[in-house]
Amino acid sequence: MINNLFNFIDSSPSPFHASENAATSLSIAGFDEVSSSASWNSNQKSFLKTGGSIVAVSAADKIDPKHLIFNIVGAHTDSPNLRIKPIPDRNSVGYQQLGVEIYGGALLNSWLDRDLGLSGQVCTKEGQVIKKHLFRSDQPLLRVPQLAIHLDRNVNEGLTLDRQSHLTPIWGLGDSDNHGFRNFLANLIEVEETDILSWDAMAHDLTPSTLLGKNQEFYSASRIDNLASCHAAVEALCLLDSLPENTVAVAALFDHEEVGSNSNTGAAGPLLENCLERIVLSLGGSRDDFFAALARSWCLSADGAHAVHPNYAERHDSSHKIELNAGPVIKINANVRYATQAEGSAHFQMICDAINVPTQLYSHRSDLACGSTIGPITATRLGIRVVDVGSAQLSMHSAREMGGSKDPGLLTRSLTAFYQY
Ligand code: CO
Repeated sequence: MINNLFNFIDSSPSPFHASENAATSLSIAGFDEVSSSASWNSNQKSFLKTGGSIVAVSAADKIDPKHLIFNIVGAHTDSPNLRIKPIPDRNSVGYQQLGVEIYGGALLNSWLDRDLGLSGQVCTKEGQVIKKHLFRSDQPLLRVPQLAIHLDRNVNEGLTLDRQSHLTPIWGLGDSDNHGFRNFLANLIEVEETDILSWDAMAHDLTPSTLLGKNQEFYSASRIDNLASCHAAVEALCLLDSLPENTVAVAALFDHEEVGSNSNTGAAGPLLENCLERIVLSLGGSRDDFFAALARSWCLSADGAHAVHPNYAERHDSSHKIELNAGPVIKINANVRYATQAEGSAHFQMICDAINVPTQLYSHRSDLACGSTIGPITATRLGIRVVDVGSAQLSMHSAREMGGSKDPGLLTRSLTAFYQY
């Protein structure tokens, strides 16, 4: 049901909301939360959430740690956006504005002339304790107005945006003191302004996800890269009715992919590795069993793939023109910007063939720099075999992206089959 994806995207404007909403879906499906600071108990269905990341685990009824296999799907919860600075309030010629920093490789122009809400997390003090609050306002609050063409006659020859000065949203008139944003947060989460210590706050486009096209063959939404993969990974895990003996299915959703994954909750950190080892140990296995399990295991790194753009078809390799609604894409790069090797490509093709889900093969133009994803990072970190896959989409890293309306269902089916393989 694509409406489930729309609900997930629209209610997950920040990575913290994405991990929280994934946790809610997992809890409803019978998964128990494990605390990272408590010992791992060997529940068949469990998840560990930390910040904007979450690792969810569904284990077979019967597991011998000497023969354990992990089938892992990795994805990322973060998307490029505008992040509110620590001292954000500023005034300019009678407007109140909020200072922002660009997070990740955003298409800057896509943030112009959009009605933006705010979300993230706030830390407050309660006595001697720090309390974290998720917050989200879907009120139209901010806007980065584009300069009128009459004041920039050459703009259509090439728009240039300065990251420091041209993307500062306006959100009021008159002079604010230095407490405008703090005061807004205090009212929103109903605390005293002086109790607010810090925040991770960001802007989001308020347009709801929607089907699109003459026959609704497309969908349009924010954060398709990579909430579509996160949703498919969790949905497939929740829908699993059984797993083959010795199989442990894992969905690992990481924050910070768009900025290189180097953080305590990013794919380059120890989060997944620690969870996998703790699972083996909790089942009575040894560290040696853990390493042997990794050698038998697979990871599918699921992230957006570039569909061929009709107005720029020459930007794509002529033999690897990826179509929308034509099934999951296997991403291959000789320079290992994608982790897929021949064996991994074969593995995923076999899985999809068995359930009649078509697959496509992507290779970037040889004269263009290729993007990357958590696949090579996970392979490097765990020494595990990784296949980079994903659904085709257009407008990657725009504030508003689009995809094919059949692809989310095809991705969920392929991930379900992968978990069970
Ligand atoms: Co991505």
